[in-house]
Amino acid sequence: MEIATSLLKNIARKYGTPTYVYDLDRIKHQYQLFCEAFPWPTLRVCYAMKANYNHSILTTLKNLGAGIDAVSPGDLHMALSCGFNPSDIIYTANNITDAEMDEVMAEGVLMNIDSLSRLERYAKKYPNTPVCLRFNPGVVDGEHDKIKTGGDLTKFGILLEDVDKVKTIICNNGLKVTGLHEHTGSGLIKPDSILTAMERIMSIATRKNFPDLTFLDFGGGFKVPYGPDETQVDYKQMGIRIMERFSRFTRTYGRQLGIWFEPGKYLTAQAGQLLVKVNTIKHNRNRTICGTDSGFPQLIRPMFYDAHHTIKNISNPKGKPFVYDICGNICETGDLFAKDRSLPEIRENDILSIKDAGAYCYAMGGTYNLRPMPGEVIVENQKASLSRKRLTSRQLIDLIRRESFDITDADD
Ligand SMILES: Cc1ncc(COP(=O)(O)O)c(C=O)c1O
Repeated sequence: MEIATSLLKNIARKYGTPTYVYDLDRIKHQYQLFCEAFPWPTLRVCYAMKANYNHSILTTLKNLGAGIDAVSPGDLHMALSCGFNPSDIIYTANNITDAEMDEVMAEGVLMNIDSLSRLERYAKKYPNTPVCLRFNPGVVDGEHDKIKTGGDLTKFGILLEDVDKVKTIICNNGLKVTGLHEHTGSGLIKPDSILTAMERIMSIATRKNFPDLTFLDFGGGFKVPYGPDETQVDYKQMGIRIMERFSRFTRTYGRQLGIWFEPGKYLTAQAGQLLVKVNTIKHNRNRTICGTDSGFPQLIRPMFYDAHHTIKNISNPKGKPFVYDICGNICETGDLFAKDRSLPEIRENDILSIKDAGAYCYAMGGTYNLRPMPGEVIVENQKASLSRKRLTSRQLIDLIRRESFDITDADD
């Protein structure tokens, strides 16, 4: 069930704008759908917390039994502080330092290593320990070039053809490879990409003997519909094919293995929205500009990925439609949430809801132009509560003032 418009208006009134609103019931529903689509006895859903690290969302997913895909020390410590056990977390960072590796190992978290060079350093420092290996599946897919992570043009993963070099490092240092991993991209468009990538990882597992293997991790990338022409992929149907193929693989392999996935978008994107207030309507010859109190640093997907986000005028849903450029308050021409968008008449002080903003929106945010990030409100059982307060501009300045930091104390 959608959050009622009256509740959204109350949230805007009570907590001000811009404010992110997250529907925890929707996240629970998405998690349940995901588990139903992949009914494997040892399925592990490691939520890609890079999508949204809000603590209420993390806690909700933890209570449902999810694990975590973490990609930075910040992710790691946030997950631990929300009660995830180290054994629930896989650490899949890219281009890390030795200090970062040591920090992860000190917490007892499984490292997912994505280069030969890092594997060598890891092996020297931590011989005879369990490790996961991230391979580049050589499959190119994703809903935008910037989020395709497989294939020759990306920086991720160990090349499949380097598996013999991997074996040498493993054997020389007694490493226990407990997992093999791949992540093809975000918002996979081609229906068979995930199956092709799986084939390649399963083939390595079959051809090269990794006696300590306990799971294969096929990453995230499960699409949600953003634009009006996009439909929801039938993951139940796809799950049947994936489960059938994986079960055939484990029979040939000779023993049961866990199947892991790392969905981000699928769990949270549709559960979030950003409420913004219109403060300016401007007619620039043949364009009507609708100025709002947020901007691209607070929701960057339209500017960064040319992403479409549905926008609703919740103050005047039945108004006569007009065409608008929905803009932010940042000093950049590209600061647009939508261009040439037909919406019910927008008036100054109307509240707009920017939909599907639960993944890679707040989490990719910043404070460019020194505007503090929006607050975050959660809704559960149609009841709203504040999850994180918006900083005032003065509080933001207190945080970033140069003399607040002693660089010699910085821990990374
Ligand atoms: C390693 C890894 N796993 C999982 C994900 C989650 O992807 P998505 O949010 O598209 O499911 C990402 C994001 O691109 C990723 O880099």
